[in-house]
Amino acid sequence: MTDILARPTQLTADLPLQVSPSASPVDAVRRAEILADPGFGQHFTDHMLSVTWTRGVGWHNALLGPFTPLQLHPSTAVLHYSQTIFEGLKAFNLDDGGLAVFRPDANAARFQRSAARLAMPGLPEDAFVAAVEALVSIDRAWVPSGGDRSLYLRPFMFATEAYLGVRPAHEYLCLFIASPSGAYFPRGVKPVTVWLSEDFVRATPGGTGAAKTGGNYAASLLAQEQAAAQGCDQVVWLDAVERSAVEEMGGMNLFFVIDHRRTHGRRGGDPSDIELVTPELTGTLLAGITRDALITLAREHEYAVSERRITVAEWRDRAADGSLTEVFACGTAAVITPIGKARSNGGEITIADGEPGPITTALREELLAIQHGTVADRHGWIHRIG
Ligand code: PLP
Ligand code: COI
Repeated sequence: MTDILARPTQLTADLPLQVSPSASPVDAVRRAEILADPGFGQHFTDHMLSVTWTRGVGWHNALLGPFTPLQLHPSTAVLHYSQTIFEGLKAFNLDDGGLAVFRPDANAARFQRSAARLAMPGLPEDAFVAAVEALVSIDRAWVPSGGDRSLYLRPFMFATEAYLGVRPAHEYLCLFIASPSGAYFPRGVKPVTVWLSEDFVRATPGGTGAAKTGGNYAASLLAQEQAAAQGCDQVVWLDAVERSAVEEMGGMNLFFVIDHRRTHGRRGGDPSDIELVTPELTGTLLAGITRDALITLAREHEYAVSERRITVAEWRDRAADGSLTEVFACGTAAVITPIGKARSNGGEITIADGEPGPITTALREELLAIQHGTVADRHGWIHRIG
């Protein structure tokens, strides 16, 4: 806390940050209890950062203050027309005692793209990164250590104007909150079973699928309930037009590991015989930052990486002929999660022996090692907080 107060308090050159530390932070004993078993998205730190945008004024009133509930007028635009966007990124305790955030610049850029799609003002990328730094810095005692624990950061922005007309609002609030987190799935890294949704779609061409906006998630909930009723953990979305190409999972992107030696009955060979396929970014799915990092890591391992169309039929056929050896999902919250089985109205597909595969496991360990600073950061992904 003293750190942040000692530093120049500006989000950008023309956006001063007022810092007003919480007078009643959670006591150290209770905080230690929470950090020992944080779960996901249930506990929040002592502070939050807010910035306001008003038409004709721009960004102003940046405040780092106590975490506190909001009071909203019942006609607040977001409550009616869902003009809202969010981000998700994580801060980690590094092995050398330092503290870092994974790729905040990439989240800042995506926050701008989401804002543009929702007709909202873009928060300058340097202000986004400075806000993340300020919040993590003041709440550094809340960053849990070890395993897949981290401080999950949730920047979001919504229309605060009290007005029932349908048009882009004239006022917005952008907030940064933080939540200590452990594994996203309660069962840890056990393979999940997914439901291929043929009745509902997440995103249509020209829609908001590539933006991180609440409506996409609201529209997914009924399909998620249907998946649960089928004994599945998550929904996999198919393309809205033909319902044949695989797009993404609930809050994660997908990768398929295809061993082409098995198709041709060959042995030996090199890593380039193994293709890692991830659905191409058609505009209907989210450009995941974990997806992007894994493409880079997989190429370094000399696997053949394709961003291409992959259909349910190919998934089924390759699982049957044994060339599909692994399927996994990836995202900030869930890191890398193996997929053991897929179910649909057309039956069940089991991937290999249904257990986490070696490439899934190795990529997961490598990503976590980079995030925790146990291996060198060759890509400039680790953003240290002083
Ligand atoms: N797809 C969706 C729909 C998501 O909500 C997320 C989570 O952020 C992802 C993919 C993965 O993106 P990232 O790796 O940037 O967290
Ligand atoms: C994330 O991984 O950050 C997400 O946003 C996924 C989910 C919690 C919505």
